[in-house]
Amino acid sequence: MTETAAPALHRGAPEGEPLLHADRLVAGYLPGVNILQECSLVLHPGELVGIIGPNGAGKSTLLKALFGLVSIREGALTLKGEDITNLRADALVGRGVGFVPQTNNVFPSLTIEENLQMGVYQAPQKFSERLEVVLDLFPELTHRRKQRAGALSGGERQMVAMARALMPEPSVLLLDEPSAGLSPVRQDEAFLRTRRINKAGVSVVIVEQNARRALQICDRAYVLDQGRNAYSGPGRELMHDPKVIELYLGTLATDVDAARAVDRETGEPGV
Ligand SMILES: Nc1ncnc2c1ncn2[C@@H]1O[C@H](COP(=O)(O)OP(=O)(O)O)[C@@H](O)[C@H]1O
Ligand SMILES: [Mg+2]
Repeated sequence: MTETAAPALHRGAPEGEPLLHADRLVAGYLPGVNILQECSLVLHPGELVGIIGPNGAGKSTLLKALFGLVSIREGALTLKGEDITNLRADALVGRGVGFVPQTNNVFPSLTIEENLQMGVYQAPQKFSERLEVVLDLFPELTHRRKQRAGALSGGERQMVAMARALMPEPSVLLLDEPSAGLSPVRQDEAFLRTRRINKAGVSVVIVEQNARRALQICDRAYVLDQGRNAYSGPGRELMHDPKVIELYLGTLATDVDAARAVDRETGEPGV
């Protein structure tokens, strides 16, 4: 458990009080079966933090625990220093937390605009002001506002889901695999969009199966394995950690390929 000993666990994190602090969370679905086994994470204001790890590691469970959808059995969760352990999802939305689940994240029978309206059901007076801000981030949606979400492609639905979560002006956005099921080009767009949202001032926790790409865009990341913290640190550092490469990123050869890649946004080498 030396890997999980603080402060090494949050290596590279800024000084000061975290926006969100999950401290040794134990959580699960079935009585007596813990999926998260003392899982920790901090998110500081302005950060883009990734969660990667093999299938079944507990990444989605951790996000759901952060959003009050899986009950926390042990440990503590704080937002801006206030205890929010086991607060319900709707209360968390009121406090500035947004969540985009991996699937079933739009209302298919409603139009795009109605989906966005649902995003501010707790504060409907904010609708027009927020709509303008959010459509600025997702200009592709502007002319399709009256279309039913059910008629959209996977990539477009993902956009609507993110846009809906941004409507109440969250300070923290939790994203579960925004690139899943998308074509490579659409995946790339999802990553760039995530970074743009982050640059616009929203602190983001992103769960990703595409670990290499996630590490490229994250400030820091946590590798989960079997419900525990396995590794963590600045994204680009983890990308070059031989142990992380061997266990979670595949072969070194692929890493060399990634190193040759060029970051599409900055034009700099991808690593
Ligand atoms: N609703 C559920 N009920 C019972 N077990 C679940 C449920 N959802 C996930 N699990 C179990 O929790 C473990 C972690 O799943 P999950 O958090 O979805 O992993 P990941 O997102 O890293 O792939 C898996 O063993 C999975 O079978
Ligand atoms: Mg998952």
